[in-house]
Amino acid sequence: MLEGKKVNLRVIDTEDISTYAEWMNDRAFVGEFFIPRQRAHSDYEKGFKERSPDSETLIIETKDGTKAGWITFFLSRFGGYATSTEIGYMLAPEHRGKGYCTEAVTIILDYLFLLQKTERIQAVIADENVASKRILEKTGFEREGVLRKLVYSIGKWWNVTVYSILREEWKEPRILK
Ligand SMILES: CC(C)(COP(=O)(O)OP(=O)(O)OC[C@H]1O[C@@H](n2cnc3c(N)ncnc32)[C@H](O)[C@@H]1OP(=O)(O)O)[C@@H](O)C(=O)NCCC(=O)NCCS
Repeated sequence: MLEGKKVNLRVIDTEDISTYAEWMNDRAFVGEFFIPRQRAHSDYEKGFKERSPDSETLIIETKDGTKAGWITFFLSRFGGYATSTEIGYMLAPEHRGKGYCTEAVTIILDYLFLLQKTERIQAVIADENVASKRILEKTGFEREGVLRKLVYSIGKWWNVTVYSILREEWKEPRILK
């Protein structure tokens, strides 16, 4: 368990899969920038069992143990020759706007920079996703640029913005302060 002030992060386990499947099949949960892929509970279970050892998904829990959302990290391949650790996150609508995701990202940055030799952590965000971009700016990410029409969803092509934070910009653990 990774502990913050408002939320804790706990590695997803078998008993969380049904909540995760419900969330991911729900339009309100995945938000306005994605169409929720409709997948069976068993597909999610299989996905978690077969996940790469370089990736992890953690449940974002409030301090009373309520499941509020998830945050993930994984190795993203770039141009067939480079890899970068990438993060993604989603929060249930009733838990948004309370700073939970900002804290979850702060915790995961500490965890990854303390745990891994990575020099760079990135996030790739739909250009219109203001809340998500704000989280990255608040947690010290730099905007790198736009990848035009990278993603097709909800009947249109979306530009996405790439953000990253380097180890020297993170400097030291923040969540303990
Ligand atoms: C994006 C998301 C994770 C944000 O989670 P959250 O816990 O509400 O985020 P926080 O409360 O930590 O911070 C959100 C920040 O964005 C700001 N914000 C939110 N909506 C905004 C809007 N429409 N315009 C401008 N700023 C906005 C908030 O005011 C806050 O900034 P502040 O602390 O300076 O006031 C959540 O909305 C979500 O799950 N969306 C659907 C899934 C998604 O888009 N995930 C990210 C891409 S993978």
